[in-house]
Amino acid sequence: MRADIDRERYIEEHTSPEDTVLRDLHRRTYLSTCNPRMLSGPSQGKFLEMLCNMLMPRNILEIGTFTGYSAICMARGAMPHVHVDTVEVNDELEGTIRQAFAHANLEGHIDLHIGDARELLPSLGRTYDFIYVDGDKRHYPDYLRLALPKLRPGGYMLADNVLWGGKVYAPEAPDDAHTRAVMDFNRMVANNPDVDNVLIPSRDGLMLIRKLR
Ligand SMILES: C[S@@+](CC[C@H](N)C(=O)[O-])C[C@H]1O[C@@H](n2cnc3c(N)ncnc32)[C@H](O)[C@@H]1O
Repeated sequence: MRADIDRERYIEEHTSPEDTVLRDLHRRTYLSTCNPRMLSGPSQGKFLEMLCNMLMPRNILEIGTFTGYSAICMARGAMPHVHVDTVEVNDELEGTIRQAFAHANLEGHIDLHIGDARELLPSLGRTYDFIYVDGDKRHYPDYLRLALPKLRPGGYMLADNVLWGGKVYAPEAPDDAHTRAVMDFNRMVANNPDVDNVLIPSRDGLMLIRKLR
C-alpha cells in the first residue's frame, strides 16, 4: 500500500502538472463525490490527452463520464475539430459535469448524455474514431458488444481497469461479478479476429484495441 502511494506520487511528480481547470475539477471531485478515486487524475489524463493528440480523432465516445475529467483531457488533445459524446448514468453528477465543461470552454465540443450506456448507445448515430470505456466493470462485455460496431475500421478503443487490481490473473480468481466480467471482456478481445490489441500494464491496466475490419 505504502509502495503504491509512493509510486503514484513519483509518477505525478514527473508528469506535466494539471492546469487550473483540471486542478479545480480534481479538487471539487474530492470535495463533492462519494468515490473520488474513480477520477482518472493527472497522469492518466495527460496520457489520454497525448493519445488523442497523436490520433486526432474527430469523433470520440466515452462510457463513464464521472465528473468530466477524462472527457476534457481527450477533447483538448484532439482540438480543434473534435466532437465527444460522453455517457454517464448517475444524474446527480450532471451539474458538476456541465460546469466543468463550461469552465474548460468545451461546451461546443462535448455532448453529455445522461443514462445507461447500454440503453443509449444504440441511439447514438455517429461512427467513432476513438472510444474510451470506463463505466461499470460488470458491463464491460456489453459495452464491447455495443460499442465495437460503432468504431470505424482503423479506429481505436481503450478500456480502463482491465487488470482489476490483479484479480483477473490471480491463481484462484475471485468469483465475483466484477472480476468475471473483466475476465470475459479480456477474453472476448483477445479472441476476436477482427481486432488487434495490447494490454498495457499502466495503473490498473489499459486494453488498447484497434479495429481491423
Ligand atoms: C471510473 S468512473 C469514470 C471516470 C472518468 N472516466 C474519469 O476518468 O474521470 C465510472 C463512471 O461510470 C459511470 N457508469 C457506470 N455504469 C454506467 C453505464 N452503464 N452507463 C453510463 N455510465 C456508467 C459511473 O456512474 C461512474 O461515474
